[in-house]
Amino acid sequence: MEGKPLAGQRALVTGASKGIGNAIACAYASAGASVVVNYRSSREEAEQMKADINKSGGEALAVKADISTIEGCEKLFRSVEQEWGGVDIVVANAGIQRDAAFMEMSAEDWHRVIDVNLTGQFICAQGAVRCFRRCKHDPEISAARGKVIFTSSVHQKIPWPGHVNYAAAKGGLKLLMETMALELAHEKIRVNAIAPGAIQTDINEDVWSDEEGRKKMLQLIPYGRIGEPEDIAKAAVWLASDESDYVVGTTLFVDGGMTLYPSFRDAG
Ligand code: BGC
Repeated sequence: MEGKPLAGQRALVTGASKGIGNAIACAYASAGASVVVNYRSSREEAEQMKADINKSGGEALAVKADISTIEGCEKLFRSVEQEWGGVDIVVANAGIQRDAAFMEMSAEDWHRVIDVNLTGQFICAQGAVRCFRRCKHDPEISAARGKVIFTSSVHQKIPWPGHVNYAAAKGGLKLLMETMALELAHEKIRVNAIAPGAIQTDINEDVWSDEEGRKKMLQLIPYGRIGEPEDIAKAAVWLASDESDYVVGTTLFVDGGMTLYPSFRDAG
């Protein structure tokens, strides 16, 4: 996209210290947004992020808060409001994997992934909407009063043996997003999701860094390459901008065709 499609907007991206979140935060800064960097304990990481954002041409604010709790999340949004008067874009992106075969999966790993990938997104999105409602909306800056973007996954749709906690969380996220979108659209709050396919980040490094694993991964991607965090960041800029103002309650799959049943290409 040309120019600064997010000029004057204020964005919060969770899980922005690395991978997809980091690329989104930097792309938002290059697109003209001011970006909030949230951290729990590692001030150093947040300072690094701030520096990355400044390098991408944006303004950044580092705020310490534990956003896995409603109170921590509220504290974060209140601090941003105090500094910047509100927020226009919230990307609920933080996510983890704790993999095991169904019968070997511990209750702890089940809960951990549901807590971060589904409940964490719920808490963050609820905090975002509270903040949108409290703050003044300037339609010159953003047509919508506020935008929430969830980072989902192709596994909101593709069953994933060995990762039942992750697939269940992402499947839940799909209907969390759609239900929220339907409840809030009349307030001019736009809720959508991006579903990345195989993107080369730390989360799947064990697969793409291994020759055999990489080959198998590529067989699942009709477009013939593993994705980069920037592929997702570009979609996230569009989805946050007024260019997508009529897009409500949609999941944008950015997956090189992974959800097209690639095993059917030469069969069926
Ligand atoms: C997972 C990755 C995986 C990709 C495609 C993502 O949601 O986090 O580990 O490579 O889906 O299967």
